[in-house]
Amino acid sequence: MDDERNHDTSLCKQSASSTPRGSLELDIPVVDLSVSDEEFLVREVTKASEEWGIFQVVNHGIPTDLIRQLQVVGKQFFDLPEAEKEAVAKEEDIEGYKRNYLEGIKAWDEHLSHRLSPPSVINYKYWPKNPPQYREVNEEYTRHMKKLTEKILGWLSEGLGLPAVALLQNLGGETAEYVIRVNYYQPSPKSDLAIGAAVHTDVGAITLLVPNEVPGLQVFKDEQWLDVEYINSAVVVFIGDQLMRMSNGRYKNVLHRATLDKENVRISWPVFVAPRHDLLVGPLPELTGDENPPKFEGVVYKDYLHQIFEKWAVDKLYSS
Ligand code: SIN
Ligand code: FE2
Repeated sequence: MDDERNHDTSLCKQSASSTPRGSLELDIPVVDLSVSDEEFLVREVTKASEEWGIFQVVNHGIPTDLIRQLQVVGKQFFDLPEAEKEAVAKEEDIEGYKRNYLEGIKAWDEHLSHRLSPPSVINYKYWPKNPPQYREVNEEYTRHMKKLTEKILGWLSEGLGLPAVALLQNLGGETAEYVIRVNYYQPSPKSDLAIGAAVHTDVGAITLLVPNEVPGLQVFKDEQWLDVEYINSAVVVFIGDQLMRMSNGRYKNVLHRATLDKENVRISWPVFVAPRHDLLVGPLPELTGDENPPKFEGVVYKDYLHQIFEKWAVDKLYSS
């Protein structure tokens, strides 16, 4: 499997494309992880998380060929006849396949979600049997995702003046939850600003996403919607609600959405990294004091999810 060391980061310019996509020449940060200066990486990742709440990483160590395989098996699943996809249909929980092309709902997608880690929470009944390589590829991808997540959380911990293990430990360490969601957005010729994923912040701690080459992901910054430029085999990193809360507001949870393309299928593969469900999550005590009072109350993560999902259901914002 090849690496992507020679990646040309000069391709990373933010596009000033025509409406409805973003129109400002602003660059979403791109961090090249092949740099061996750890202090530099801590500074870059911390700054991007404070100012933007989103950045892309290149030369991240996940083999390009593995990303391609993840994309191939995901697409092969969505290309199956509807009846076969329904074999892993969603029931009560967040896992499984769901088709969501409904009038009156603010998001337009079909998607497949399932837990990846820890092993004790995996339900293989939601992992497609077809294509046959689906499981092996997703398991290999999970191993790489966890390594990359641990590195990024380590830098983000050090950026807060804490030991590298601090953030991951507060998410439950090895019991922190990793969930993949494959979003499949059919093209929509209808509207100029048809939405695949409605405006939201991610509820977990951090999200690591790879998209296909069709543009559509946008972030809200300085009163503008900006495109996230597609960079071949880069990973897009989002700060979610829990890292904002744990860092007492230093890291920003980024507001984002996904638009639909008029002609092409867009697919994205976010992996959500979240605290174990029974953990109380709030500002880390080391970061607060008389001069720096807590800005958020601690909330048990499963209660936080419950509140958010209820709100989304009321707003018909997003199908989970
Ligand atoms: C999402 O954030 O829910 C989807 C993002 C994307 O499809 O790129
Ligand atoms: Fe999201």
